[in-house]
Amino acid sequence: MTSKFKVCDFILFGGHGDLAFRKLMPALYHLSLDEYLSDESRIITVARKDMTHNEHIELVKNKLKEFLEDSFNEEEFSKFQKLLHIVTVDFSDNNTYKKLQELLEMYKDRERVNYLSTSPSFFGSICQSLHSWDLITEFSRVVLEKPLGKDLESSRAINKKVLEYFEEDQIYRIDHYLGKDTVQNIMALRFANRLFVPLWNSNHIDHVQITVAESVGVENRWGYYNEYGAMRDMVQNHLMQLVCLIAMEPPCSLDANSVRDEKVKVLRSFRSMSDEDIKTNTVRGQYISGSSEGESVPGYLEGDDKTSQTETFVAIKVDVDNWRWNGVPFYIRSGKRMQKRNSEIVIQFKTIPHSIFGKNEDAINANQLVITLQPNESIELKLMNKIPGLSDEMKLQEVDLELNTPYNKSRKPDAYERLILDVILANPTLFMRLDEVEAAWKWADKIIEGWQKNISPMKNYTAGSYGPSASIQLIAKDGRSWNDE
Ligand code: BG6
Repeated sequence: MTSKFKVCDFILFGGHGDLAFRKLMPALYHLSLDEYLSDESRIITVARKDMTHNEHIELVKNKLKEFLEDSFNEEEFSKFQKLLHIVTVDFSDNNTYKKLQELLEMYKDRERVNYLSTSPSFFGSICQSLHSWDLITEFSRVVLEKPLGKDLESSRAINKKVLEYFEEDQIYRIDHYLGKDTVQNIMALRFANRLFVPLWNSNHIDHVQITVAESVGVENRWGYYNEYGAMRDMVQNHLMQLVCLIAMEPPCSLDANSVRDEKVKVLRSFRSMSDEDIKTNTVRGQYISGSSEGESVPGYLEGDDKTSQTETFVAIKVDVDNWRWNGVPFYIRSGKRMQKRNSEIVIQFKTIPHSIFGKNEDAINANQLVITLQPNESIELKLMNKIPGLSDEMKLQEVDLELNTPYNKSRKPDAYERLILDVILANPTLFMRLDEVEAAWKWADKIIEGWQKNISPMKNYTAGSYGPSASIQLIAKDGRSWNDE
């Protein structure tokens, strides 16, 4: 990491929202303590509610205490608070940007990060106002939080509007999964180790499984979630990005466009689904009441809309049509209120071509590489091993690479910390380019349209389970099973 003490104006639109308090402010707090943000930098919260400077400081402090818990420190906060500013702006009223303009004008040549943590319906008007007040400079960048639209068309409309005021290379479309350490480690694992190079293809890999399971429900985001559902909230972005990192060809360098060129090729290789494919290769589900972590929890339809057709679970068999992955299905699934929080990628290798172990033949299991993202980060390589002693029994055993604490650090940085730092350093490698977003929507739209025609009817699953039984059949009919206990 090169640039310690980076001076910048970080302008946080929607700075009093849930994401801002839960993730963004804590990330900025740590970046400032770790000296990635200089003391001269400013974090300018742009909020709609009128508030004095002192009230804002008090609010940020309380929220940091709530979300940082043990890593909050009064003394450190007293230094951090010097970076904090607040301005009140009505995002849809251009006249209200005057105060922001006065503040930014003080340092015209400074790097500016405009982080739009607002509803995407404001992205266009915010960019337009920044432009009309002459607040977009060659040192400006804009960060767009998801959801970037509900489909290809709405996503294009949002991006088109932002592109009227910012160049593509100034736009940072965030997907926080790309900031997770283990996710970045996929690149290291694949491209910094010779070991996997010859094995990473359809000659040796039987299939890939990607699970992002959450035990929580939709919490206090029912309104948002009901409009989007698991496909738009998780699959179109986070899961597809994970597939890209597993499936992509080696980029020629780590430079942003080289990496993104390879990812977009994967997205374009996703086989588009016919109605028949949607019927046989996709499962959508909604949780009904059950129990989560020992407590009874209500079903999804006990929320605001009793007739909602929004899916809280998705499982899909994805075919990546290219030379490397021909005949290797990627089974992906994601859901709320599942049995436990567990996000993992399983690379299932093929069995050995011939066994010399006689009666133990059936006991030989194929190798697996399991990359766990959550709740604990680890990489396990499962290898057949002879059980020590006089018996000739063998067992699949793990070679385990624990990743929970980075070397000589007591704290593991959150994904947002990494990504915010990259925006400050103007490194877009871990952000999505326009063509990636569009390719992902194009594929997802087809499935969503099929669901709207009820080609694959909604299935129920009990809260606290592994999802609808149809998702077990989805993989079982190919003679495979999910990596669940
Ligand atoms: C967000 C989704 O992008 O990711 C949420 O909007 C989801 O619905 C969250 O809960 C999951 O993130 P993580 O990092 O906790 O797996």
